[in-house]
Amino acid sequence: MSAPPWEGLAINGERLLRRLRELGQIGAIDNGGCARVALTDADRAGRDLVLLWMRDLGLDITIDTIGNVVATRPGHRGGAPVLCGSHIDTVATGGIYDGNYGVLAGLEVIETLIDAGVSTARPLAVAFFTNEEGVRFAPDMMGSLVYAGGLTAEVAHDVVGADGARLGDELARIGYLGPTPCPGVVPHAYVELHIEQGPILERTTTAIGAVTGVQGISWQELTITGQSNHAGTTPMAFRHDAAYAAAAVTTFVRQLAQDIGGHQVATVGQIDLHPNLVNVVAARATMTVDLRNTDEGILQSAEARLFSFLDELASEEGVTIDRRTLVRFEPVDFDPRVIDLVERVATDLGHTVARMPSGAGHDAQMLARVCPAGMVFVPSVKGISHNPAEFSHPTDLVAGADVLFRVLLTLAEEA
Ligand code: HGY
Ligand code: MN
Ligand code: MN
Repeated sequence: MSAPPWEGLAINGERLLRRLRELGQIGAIDNGGCARVALTDADRAGRDLVLLWMRDLGLDITIDTIGNVVATRPGHRGGAPVLCGSHIDTVATGGIYDGNYGVLAGLEVIETLIDAGVSTARPLAVAFFTNEEGVRFAPDMMGSLVYAGGLTAEVAHDVVGADGARLGDELARIGYLGPTPCPGVVPHAYVELHIEQGPILERTTTAIGAVTGVQGISWQELTITGQSNHAGTTPMAFRHDAAYAAAAVTTFVRQLAQDIGGHQVATVGQIDLHPNLVNVVAARATMTVDLRNTDEGILQSAEARLFSFLDELASEEGVTIDRRTLVRFEPVDFDPRVIDLVERVATDLGHTVARMPSGAGHDAQMLARVCPAGMVFVPSVKGISHNPAEFSHPTDLVAGADVLFRVLLTLAEEA
């Protein structure tokens, strides 16, 4: 069998790294971090830059009704496209790699083919999906969820953010309320390149992760209502202290994760107190609880244990605790064929590779609803992410992009 036309080609690593740095300057914050929260002006500026790079390559561009952008290079045989990509929105204290790396590496794969004048049988497309982080508008992975038909754009438009803004208004305000309908075009396959955001690849000195799936996610918003009172005159037995209750929940979920063990993680990332004053017993606490596990049954039992703890706590402290589910996604398994392909390509390129689940949520878990999907991980230094100190070594970033290159092109030649 003759060698594929792209044999011997490699992505332009310097161009990829330069674009990562350039995009990372948009929304730059202290110590090298990045803040481009979904649908803010910084997000718009980041979108505009990536769109400019897509347009400069002459790609066919669509912007859909939830603001997802897909740039496609036609194939000489046509058919459903092979899609790659990720997101370019960040958390408010993010790094420059989370999401951005997968989008820019996909763009680099396409530009490498254009430079070499090599075409693919199937169309090859790269996307950035709206609001993957979900820190302003829940749920996370929202754009890819709408793309995959798991949520309508109309319902998404009416989501009110943590800052009181309506998502549809913000999407229109930044100029990315596009005409292309959702659900989007069903890809032949979807592959997402991403930093691991955890410590496993680094600790095991493994260069590439062949990701087997994404763990289940449960986000609960709790509103704890007690009674504000004087910090000096109110005897302890007379208190209905929302701040104490919030602290009790925080220590409970830590203990819950330790009791369950395995992949179980639990996080209280947000606590807002009211009136938040030194000499006033807190009347109200609004907080979030993030529970995750690779096993749906165990995740459900973790939720059940949290909910019964909340009932006990409410009656002991004499507070009310209202609960709202912000996000609930079951664990997702990626396509075995794609996992095998990632593993084979990484090995053929001489990289160490290991199979592993993803602790973080990703757009790939939504695309997996409609097509064969998989992911490629590269190591995160010290396993740090969602933190300005997020860093991956350039050699690892280039290696990951070369693995993506070959995985995509193999899929793009499939009948
Ligand atoms: O929360 C997550 O795992 C992702 O970063 N949205
Ligand atoms: Mn991400
Ligand atoms: Mn993230």
